[in-house]
Amino acid sequence: MGSALTSEQLHNQAYFDDPFPIWQQMRHEYPIFHDVIDNRWLITRYDDAAEVFRNHAIYSAKPYSRFGDVIGQTMVQMDGKDHDIRRSIVAPVMVGKKLEHDYQPLINGVIDRLLAKLPSSGSFDAMKSITSPLPLKVIATMLGMPDSYDSYLYDVTIKVFAALAGTEPEKSEGKAKHEEFALQIDQIISERMKSPTNDLITGITQGRSEDGQSLSRQEIASFISLLLVAGGETTDRTLANFWYVLLKHPEIVEMIRADFSLLEPAISEFMRRDGIVVYEDRELTQNVIWHGQEIPAGEIIRVAMMSANNDESIFANPRTFDITRKDLNLGPEKRPGGRLEGVAHHMGFGLGKHFCIGYHLARAEMSSATEKLLTRYEKLSFAPGPEPDLSIRWHMRHLDHLVLNAS
Ligand code: HEM
Repeated sequence: MGSALTSEQLHNQAYFDDPFPIWQQMRHEYPIFHDVIDNRWLITRYDDAAEVFRNHAIYSAKPYSRFGDVIGQTMVQMDGKDHDIRRSIVAPVMVGKKLEHDYQPLINGVIDRLLAKLPSSGSFDAMKSITSPLPLKVIATMLGMPDSYDSYLYDVTIKVFAALAGTEPEKSEGKAKHEEFALQIDQIISERMKSPTNDLITGITQGRSEDGQSLSRQEIASFISLLLVAGGETTDRTLANFWYVLLKHPEIVEMIRADFSLLEPAISEFMRRDGIVVYEDRELTQNVIWHGQEIPAGEIIRVAMMSANNDESIFANPRTFDITRKDLNLGPEKRPGGRLEGVAHHMGFGLGKHFCIGYHLARAEMSSATEKLLTRYEKLSFAPGPEPDLSIRWHMRHLDHLVLNAS
């Protein structure tokens, strides 16, 4: 037994810098822990996390209504049929064959153009020049928006994202920005209704659920703002973390250089070990008992999915970066997730009903960008200067900067 855990220990810099020892202590000694500072009940074990994500009737996505306050209601805060209908309208244009056939060449083109601006050798800021612009530019191009929208979309994303924490004046600024953006989207929808194209806005406008329902114009604008915030900063930070972890493991970089198909297991193992999302919150719709602790309806369960992904009872030596590990599904993720057919899936993209709808796109961007970066430069290292700081900031664990040296 370690010394008694306090809520303060979940809110100090030592925890933000290295949360893994505390999570290990929680998994063993406090499988349910009341963080009295945030008033959240933390769940840290893999099987417990999977149970919460799967059981959406009891564990509601209502805490995401803070998104709704800024961008209007979207499926991310919905449960049950409301969610199913909306997801089934947009899913066909976000994953699967459509993505591979129509969008992969577009993703490659965006990466080529960004890489072409880098020096042939020397140092460059990998976040400013690649990881930040890449996901937004990909979404903008998929939406069929011209280059002239680039800085505007960046501004919308930053302001809306800042608003999600729910504090003023950021909340009102983000809401106003979304409303202004929604008017522009509405104009594009009108154009696409008159002359459909192959882009995402046309796809979403034409999308229908099984029983023929479609998204209203307002919902389409809200969904597009959701794509910017859910797919922008997440992919940016995940790709930067991925490159950081790779550079810390030069032997794995060499394996990947020799066989780029190893990027697939490397991404899966990276998402397990260091994928950026630390927590997801769910609201209890009824009283529950967890490990003998009664928790009343209305309370918030905080799923520490990064802890679940590093649960030593599922993944041996969880902090070892092993792209051949046998205890993890090393292929693409599956929405039902958890332990499927005897193999555990990581939860870096969530699990169950709200499993990330952009996972396929994010993987495609990470994989193509990494292959192209390694092909362009024979040698990559951290540039001299302060070591990048990988810490928990709000609900994500990510870097503050990533400057690379290339030759
Ligand atoms: C590596 C990058 C990404 C990470 C780590 C990530 C992570 C996640 C996670 C953990 C969830 C589940 C949330 C929950 O259960 O409460 C989620 C949902 C979602 N993600 Fe992603 N995501 C990424 C990229 C993207 C991209 C590129 C898009 C779209 C362009 C996207 C769109 C969404 C949407 C719309 C949802 C909500 C799905 C629903 O409610 O059914 N994400 N993501």
